This record gives sequence, structure tokens and C-alpha cells, in this order.
Amino acid sequence: MKNHILFLFLLLPIPIFAQNPVYKNGMVVSAHPIASEIGTDILKKGGNAVDAAVAVQFALSVVLPIAGNIGGGGFLVYRGADGTYAALDYREKAPGAATETMYLDQNGNPVNHMSLFGQLAAGVPGTVDGMVKAHEKYGKLSWKELLQPAVDLAENGFPVTEAQAREFTFSHSTFQKWNPEGTSFTIKKEWKKGDILVQKELSRTLKIIQKKGRNGFYKGKIASLIVDEMKTGNGIISLEDLKNYQSVWRTPVTGEYKDYTIISMPPPSSGGIALISLLHSVEGFPLNEWGFQSDSTVQIMVEAERRVYADRAEHLGDPDFYNVPQEALIRKENSLKRMMPFSFDRATPSSEISASTFSPKEKEETTHYSIVDKDGNAVSVTTTLNGGFGSFVVVKGAGFILNNEMDDFSVKPGSPNMYGLVGGKANAIGPGKRMLSSMTPTILEKNGKLFMVVRTPGGSTIITSVFQTILNVVEFDKTIQEAVAAPRFHHQWLPDEVLMDKTSFSDSVRDILTQRGYKLTERTPWGRVDAILIKEDGSLEGGADPRGDDHVSGF
Ligand code: GLY
Repeated sequence: MKNHILFLFLLLPIPIFAQNPVYKNGMVVSAHPIASEIGTDILKKGGNAVDAAVAVQFALSVVLPIAGNIGGGGFLVYRGADGTYAALDYREKAPGAATETMYLDQNGNPVNHMSLFGQLAAGVPGTVDGMVKAHEKYGKLSWKELLQPAVDLAENGFPVTEAQAREFTFSHSTFQKWNPEGTSFTIKKEWKKGDILVQKELSRTLKIIQKKGRNGFYKGKIASLIVDEMKTGNGIISLEDLKNYQSVWRTPVTGEYKDYTIISMPPPSSGGIALISLLHSVEGFPLNEWGFQSDSTVQIMVEAERRVYADRAEHLGDPDFYNVPQEALIRKENSLKRMMPFSFDRATPSSEISASTFSPKEKEETTHYSIVDKDGNAVSVTTTLNGGFGSFVVVKGAGFILNNEMDDFSVKPGSPNMYGLVGGKANAIGPGKRMLSSMTPTILEKNGKLFMVVRTPGGSTIITSVFQTILNVVEFDKTIQEAVAAPRFHHQWLPDEVLMDKTSFSDSVRDILTQRGYKLTERTPWGRVDAILIKEDGSLEGGADPRGDDHVSGF
């Protein structure tokens, strides 16, 4: 079962993609061409970047069932044309009845599939509340207008892409298992490119949200359908949990790398802190001189990743429940000190690296798509159900898929989750707590001006994919399309291995790394980075990851 979800992530095709689109007035890059076009239409109608983000989020809930959602959650990072920043946390929460041991058997061992599949795997969804809050604060166009494209798409259907046809066909039996009465996705057993996916129940749900806003989802008919769905399995989300759910505006985490300011998501995401600390860790090394994917560059980046992910496992969790030492984790001197001792002659075994201790103990402090509008307001969003198709539970009568985000908690200290990530007290399950995320929606300024908007899905690999994409542009002089398409590698402390794809390294770099003690593990390519680069003349250059159906649209 666990492998099923991983397979869905690995299933992504790699078409050749050479275009380097440039637009002047506005741009949307998202995981699906229809969603990108909808976002651009909203910008053309005079909507701003947040209006487009809301329309794209709901459109993705229809055209990207594998991850786009109203049954999940996400994070939005905003930079206004006036230079103000904001971060919206609409991450799911553990239900009120959740306990630290809820996924353990009587011997205290994790029962993995329980946090991955079925009603019990779902956290309380945050997407609808998040979109309502984003729209209330920044929206210009009407809520009704922003939801209409999604309503129409669900009602009338849309042609599935080749990748989607493969995903639906592959997932048929799993959907059937969790939804024996059938779903829109199981109407066909074998899907082909161009088949039309109609989602009538989802359309009705979206119409209710369109009419009633937040109350249309967290109270009334849809809330009751969610709770009824819980009762058909062993789920625990209650009407009270839904009524009480609130997304939260947080202060973005910021840091400096050379001439660049990084603006990213704070806890309950680990993404922003980890990204900034990775950039700090490598800042003192001549990456540009060493070159893209040279042995020294790869070594220094891998050693930085090893150390930062060790800190992630110990120190990161929901800031409403755990004092995250944010300031210490992103302090430049700490990152630089942490890289020593390090020798180019040999990989540092992960067993020799443990989490930083901050001494003397400091005061501890308590957080997919990229859009730029004509005024220069920018939004970076990562939104998820967690695994492909989340928990595989489609809420009966409401037509949307519930997340399996509970697996992002540390189900048992030291025991790996779906992504192989380990954690402890900071990310233990607790009622009403948000599970730690790796999502890293990020905006960069260069010398105080908007420079880049970037994000990707990909679980634990999100942070390193964003890290590499940024370095590809700022150190290795790649265009944004080259930067998102470039082969990647990933290390996350545990397991002690460097993930790579066939094209990540030249043969000679592979040999050097192996000789120096790095364990290289090949897997199919991961991540789907979407990014926008703002050029000197103000024009927008888009990069859409060729590993998915991602698409640049603009005008
Ligand atoms: N569900 C993946 C993440 O939030 O990191």
C-alpha cells in the first residue's frame, strides 16, 4: 500500500520541454494547463495575484484530483507590490479526538497504512477557510466569480491528460477499496488520454461553497457529509472540529543569501527555515566556480542537507504547540559553524551528525502555483492532500478526496513516515495540532526588488528541489526553465543516501562521490517545480517542470 503512493509520485512522465515563455502583464504557472489558463483569465479581468490564486486553487481541486484539493490544506506566501509580506497557513489539523499513539499497535509499533489510507488518515481540511481568508484580505473580484470556472469544470468535465489517465487506471482498485459505492474516478477501469472526467457531486459542493463561503464547507450539509463519511470507516473528524477550524496568518520567515532576500513559509512548515539554513550553509563556498553538479558542489550541498534535516527532525513542529527555535536555526553563524568539521575526502556519516544544540539555551520562539500580476503582487502556493489522492476516501455525496496528512506527524519518535522522515516530540500527534510540513512556497527579492517566485510538491524532497532551483539561477546562471528542468539530487540525513535520477551526475562525479563514501540511490525523477523569474526590464519569464503536466500561462 505504501508503495502505491510512492509509485504515483514516481509515475510522472518527462516530455521534452524547450520553451522559455516570457510575458509582460501577468503570469501563472501551475500543475495543470487548464488551471494556469483560468488564473490568467482572472488576471486579464483585472483580478490581482490573490484572486488568481483562489481561482487556481479551486480549479486544481477539479482538474488535479491527485493533489489539488478542497479536502486538504496548504500554505500561501505573498509579497505585495508595496514590499509587504504575508504568509497564510491553511494546513490541516489533527482532529480533537487524535492521540499521540493513535497509529500504534498494542506493542507500540506503527501500523503504517492507518495513517496513509482511509478515514482515520485525514486531518481537518484547511483549504476552503484558507481561500476565504486570502480573499477577504486581498481579493478584488467577487468570490462567486472566482469559483465559477471550477464549478463549470466539475459540472461539464475536462479531458484528462496522459499522465492522469495512467494515474486513474493504476489507482482504480485502491479507490474501489475505499469507496465501494463508486466514484467519478472509477467510472472507467481503463482511462485514456482525452477521456472526459465529470464530477457532478464536486460541482454541487463547489456551488454550496460559492454561495455560502466558509460556512458552506465547515457547517451544514457538507460538514455533515464529512462526518457521515467518518462513520463509515474509523474516522474521527467531528462537526466540532470542522466548525472550529481556522487558518492563520503568520509572519513569513526571511533570510539573506548574498544580494537576495528569501521570503518563505514559517512553521508548521519546516520548508522556509530549512531552505534559509541550507542557503546559509553553502554561502561561503565558491559554487559558481566549482560549477553545476560538480563533485565539490554536490558534496557541499549534500553535507548541508544532512545537517539541516537532522535539525528538522528534532526542532520543527507546530509553533502553536511547540517552541521552535526559529531564530537560532536561521542564524547565519550557526549554519556556517555547523558545516565544520567537514572533509572533501570523505562523506560525513549521518550517524556522526545529530541535531544542533543551542547553547547557552536561547529564548525559543513560537508555519501549487506561482503567480505575478501586472502590479507586481506575487503569490507562491503549495497545496496538498499529502500522498497522491490523499487517503483515497472520496466524501460520499460531496465528491472530494480527503487528505492523508496525518502521516506527516511523527507517528512514533524515530520511526520513518511515508517520506522516510523521522521526528520526535516537536512533531508528535496532538489534538488540534498541525502536522509538520516540508512545503516551501518561496519568493525572492534581489536588492529589494521582486526577483523569483518558486514552489514544488514532493514531500521531503520539496526543500532540496527549491534549494537547487534557486542555486541553479543565482549561482549557475541557468534560465528559469533550465533551472526547474535540471536534474536534481536529495539527501535528508536519514536514510543516509543521496537520491539521484539517471541524469543527476556525470559518470566521473558518480565515481568520485562513491569513492568518498556517498551511497547513491537511483530513483525516477521527482518534484514538479513551477517558478517565475522577474527580469531587469520587469518582464516575467516562466519555468514549468517537464516532469509533470505543469504549464506556464500569461499575457
Ligand atoms: N504532505 C507533504 C508536506 O507537507 O510536506
